[in-house]
Amino acid sequence: MKVGVVGSGIMGSGIAQVMAMHAHDVILMDSNTNALNKGKASITESLNKILVKKHYSWSVQTVMDRITFTTNKQELHDVEVLFEAVTEKTDVKKAVFKELDAICQQDTIFASNTSGLSITEIAFATSRPEKVCGIHFFNPVPIMKLVEIIQHQHLDKEVLKKVENIVADLNKESIVVTDTPLFVVNRILIPMISEAIFVLEEGIASKEDIDKGMMLGASHPIGPLKLADYIGLDTLLYVQETLFKETGDPKYRIPKRLKQLVRAGHFGRKTGKGFYDYKLEIVNS
Ligand code: 3HC
Repeated sequence: MKVGVVGSGIMGSGIAQVMAMHAHDVILMDSNTNALNKGKASITESLNKILVKKHYSWSVQTVMDRITFTTNKQELHDVEVLFEAVTEKTDVKKAVFKELDAICQQDTIFASNTSGLSITEIAFATSRPEKVCGIHFFNPVPIMKLVEIIQHQHLDKEVLKKVENIVADLNKESIVVTDTPLFVVNRILIPMISEAIFVLEEGIASKEDIDKGMMLGASHPIGPLKLADYIGLDTLLYVQETLFKETGDPKYRIPKRLKQLVRAGHFGRKTGKGFYDYKLEIVNS
């Protein structure tokens, strides 16, 4: 199947990679050449990590050859399914879909990779709301087993079935979630990360001990503050703002420390600084 991915940041590159690993032809489009090059480098690096561990029938080159890297939106005109993974802002996502609505064929399915924005609103920015769903991959996409599929009232059931099958063919599990702020996993995960930041702000423990506590005391693979840096503090802030604005519930207030870090341009692992300091590798935004 020929698929399109718009946005070559962490999530878009990951989606392009797993689609290509499962023999799909992928057009990965980003209007920013620098972001596209970073995406290409991070896919190569991830494929190498995977190949080091186990023998597969494919090589890095075979997978890379299935991905066309482009800055030209018109190349997406004949894709069967389009995955959008641009910045976590409703207006940006709506603008992208509106433009692609005019470029792609009428039966192309649009899937928006969002951490928790309203799929109904994004769907109705197009002339094909019944063919637009949410698809929420988790970072790092090649490793994480779950995908949330977000349905809204007007979604065609056949489209939902097709997207469920695509996810199953990627050897991932899906859960179907009704359009609601932050869906299921982030609705639970993000307040937990927030609480960890409040614990840090209140001087209750060091960042290392907060992370150690949750790793050894709750069997999390990574502590909440390291995870925040991993997700990207800019993305985390957008997601928290969605939860706070949409619910109006003060229990979802945003920690000051998170806002300060983002305002200083410290977005976590991808910028080399967040709650922790990092050696800058090929980490794309
Ligand atoms: N591609 C391929 N392989 C990768 C990889 C990538 N991008 N990242 C890590 N790996 C592999 C490594 O090669 C390594 O393999 P090995 O154990 O066989 O040698 C293995 O994964 C573990 O990696 P590391 O040793 O480098 O580091 P860790 O042990 O800390 O694992 C991690 C990294 C897999 C990211 C682990 O820390 C983890 O599972 N963390 C939790 C991730 C998580 O919760 N993600 C969800 C975030 S929330 C989200 O995405 C939602 C959004 O909307 C906000």
